[in-house]
Amino acid sequence: MDLHVRTAGSADDGTIVFVHGFPFDGSIWDLQLEALPPGWRGIAPDLRGFGLSPLGVGDLPSGRKGGAGVAYPEEVVLTMDAAAEDVAELIERYSEGPAVVCGMSMGGYVTFALLRQRPELVRGVILMDTRPGPDNDEGRENRRRMASTVRTDGSTPIASAMLGSLVSDATRKRHPQVVEKLRTIMEGTAPETIVAALAGMAARHDFTPELPGLSVPALVIVGAEDSITPPDQARAMAAALPQARLEIVDGAAHLPGLENAPVVNRLISDFLDTL
Ligand code: MLT
Repeated sequence: MDLHVRTAGSADDGTIVFVHGFPFDGSIWDLQLEALPPGWRGIAPDLRGFGLSPLGVGDLPSGRKGGAGVAYPEEVVLTMDAAAEDVAELIERYSEGPAVVCGMSMGGYVTFALLRQRPELVRGVILMDTRPGPDNDEGRENRRRMASTVRTDGSTPIASAMLGSLVSDATRKRHPQVVEKLRTIMEGTAPETIVAALAGMAARHDFTPELPGLSVPALVIVGAEDSITPPDQARAMAAALPQARLEIVDGAAHLPGLENAPVVNRLISDFLDTL
């Protein structure tokens, strides 16, 4: 799959791939690409169907009623595995060796899938506002409802509903441009991508039992006010990882890279220095 990518920097020391969350695109990482430490190349793809990348329906599975909790018969499913295969291709194309992978929320689910499929391609992970566990029944039901709204009313109502919990009050007051950027990205995401990604997330694998066996260094970052993937989940994930450092970012909720970029950029830079 030929994904649209943004790149920055040169790769003397290594490559870091930034994987966005749902329903965003690679532009959520613009502030990180601008601030990479010297010697590091950053790559921020638009995952399939998001931003300027095609969904590539032909090589994605279709949902089956009852299968792994997914009940979107006849729908296309953007599995976390398919997205991870695309990221693996990118690493093979852009990186001389294994890369650092920084995944935010759904991007974290994709990172976990990549670690299962192709661990040899990963030299370190940054897990930002994400969680290793699968959806519970209520979560899957919410996704079904969301998919149904998007099918009938398009992406705009979802963008409005999600915006309420994505950023902190401080961000809303002090950085209204962040809210507008997120709204524009979400409203621009194709309804078929949203439905396909909801089905893929609902069917994702539980990575929790695999955390203790993860042999690469990890940095876990979470916004102090994140209610979608709260700090307690990040704390538990970091505790289960053998080589992890946890950082909680003040003034931020689900998108600390946009809400408090100076702090996140320093954390990323310090982590890359340790590799
Ligand atoms: C995301 O930001 O990627 C989503 O909140 C992930 C999810 O819906 O589980």
